[in-house]
Amino acid sequence: MTINNYDEILQLWLRASLNIRIKGRDSKSAIESQMKSNPDFFIGAFEKSDLVGIVILSSDGRKGWINRLAVDPDYRRKGLAKTLINEAEKVLKEQSIYVFSALIEDSNLGSKSLFKKCGYFEHKNITYFSKRDNDEV
Ligand SMILES: CC(C)(COP(=O)(O)OP(=O)(O)OC[C@H]1O[C@@H](n2cnc3c(N)ncnc32)[C@H](O)[C@@H]1OP(=O)(O)O)[C@@H](O)C(=O)NCCC(=O)NCCS
Repeated sequence: MTINNYDEILQLWLRASLNIRIKGRDSKSAIESQMKSNPDFFIGAFEKSDLVGIVILSSDGRKGWINRLAVDPDYRRKGLAKTLINEAEKVLKEQSIYVFSALIEDSNLGSKSLFKKCGYFEHKNITYFSKRDNDEV
């Protein structure tokens, strides 16, 4: 995908009720800069020319992260997310990253079940800590 897909990416995330950091890491300039650094990290699923699925990858050099995975509500339970995760793993392996990770809210049962089906292990003994420079990042 390119930055020309930006508006439809946001629309898809909104349709999927994902929390967007519009002034922070999901702003147009932030996404454009992430795309420039790693064009392969933005994977879209299209029906004709409509974006119906998306995932954004990131890598800290040791682990790969699967972020902002979303499938249009009209296209769910057809295996699209599974395909996007498979593709994500392929792209990360091409960068010599072999540990794939995702942060999932405990209440997101659908997503937890999806990742389990894709072979991911749920770590119940780990608590996620983060610190934000400001509320918008
Ligand atoms: C979670 C989400 C990405 C799944 O997309 P999807 O394309 O419907 O998922 P798939 O069709 O690839 O599902 C593959 C398997 O995962 C499991 N699964 C997926 N969604 C599920 C749900 N809502 N409830 C239970 N199991 C689910 C099932 O085992 C499914 O296989 P099956 O349909 O043969 O039973 C989609 O529901 C979505 O966009 N949700 C809102 C955004 C979100 O929560 N993103 C994840 C952030 S971590």
